[in-house]
Amino acid sequence: MIDPATFAAGLPKAELHLHIEGSLEPELMFALAKRNGVAIPFASVEEVRAAYEFSNLQDFLDIYYRGADVLRTERDFTDLATAYFNRAAADTVRHAEIFFDPQTHTDRGVPMAAVIEGLLAAMAQAEAAHGLTSRLILCFLRHLDEEAAFATLTAAGPWLDRIAAVGLDSSEVGNPPEKFARVFARAGDMGLRRVAHAGEEGPPAYVAQALDTLRIDRLDHGNRAMEDPLLVARLARSGMALTVCPLSNLKLCVVDRIDAHPIRAMLRAGLRATINSDDPAYFGGYVNDNFRAIAPQLTRDDLIALARNSFLGSFLDDAAVADHLAGLDAYAAAHA
Ligand code: HPA
Ligand code: ZN
Repeated sequence: MIDPATFAAGLPKAELHLHIEGSLEPELMFALAKRNGVAIPFASVEEVRAAYEFSNLQDFLDIYYRGADVLRTERDFTDLATAYFNRAAADTVRHAEIFFDPQTHTDRGVPMAAVIEGLLAAMAQAEAAHGLTSRLILCFLRHLDEEAAFATLTAAGPWLDRIAAVGLDSSEVGNPPEKFARVFARAGDMGLRRVAHAGEEGPPAYVAQALDTLRIDRLDHGNRAMEDPLLVARLARSGMALTVCPLSNLKLCVVDRIDAHPIRAMLRAGLRATINSDDPAYFGGYVNDNFRAIAPQLTRDDLIALARNSFLGSFLDDAAVADHLAGLDAYAAAHA
């Protein structure tokens, strides 16, 4: 019998919480800085990695937005996403729904077309090369205002047929979901799905607001919902998927130790939890590293459930989900 971590690594899976800018490895950061003639405040790859010690979300965001400054051209976005998809394919990721932060780029003068066309090119290549399908999720930066979010949605107009959903990320505390109620309502009217980061650092009330005010289809993180049993029951009853990110939670001090991570309690509470890498270049690992980190707390059936939830919580159509679940069942049977 294979050990649980190896079993988990081979599971067919979807990744539903991945910031493409957070997959920028230091090596590529240096290569793009050179190609684009951009100065970066680090002398070496080792120095960059040594700077990745965070005590909270804001600590990380400050360095993450600085790193993104090397991304300038359509080709940069293609190279960034291609590197991620190649890495994800090696972790048996069959489908990925990736976040991008247009405002991080358009506010620096990078055209929306360069960002989106660059990502779409990599997505087409990943499907051709690996059979790895993907979708785009356009995130609004919540530390900026609602008007800027509306302007971003308008600027993305020509590509909305190739965008699956809108999301909400960046500094959570002090920027509650209700700040974006109207732009999320507009996105919903346009036929887009809705997701939001909530309950990473923010209180359970922010999770409830994301449900009631933003009308989300999926909850990103959601850890602090665990403080409110009624909210947990509501999330479980509605089958809401949670995109949980264990190594991110550890690096951003959302949990003190990996063995104190709530993933097991989430599954026992009947939550549709999934495992994801969030910002793998910054948090010490891709999706299988996250599975490896939590595998000691879980049973074989839990690991299968996490992979199953990743397809059930995706925005794939029913036929595609059924195909992936059949593949998952076949893998489990082959490793009984
Ligand atoms: N939380 C909020 N914003 C983010 C994150 C995160 O984990 N990663 C990238 N932007
Ligand atoms: Zn995130």
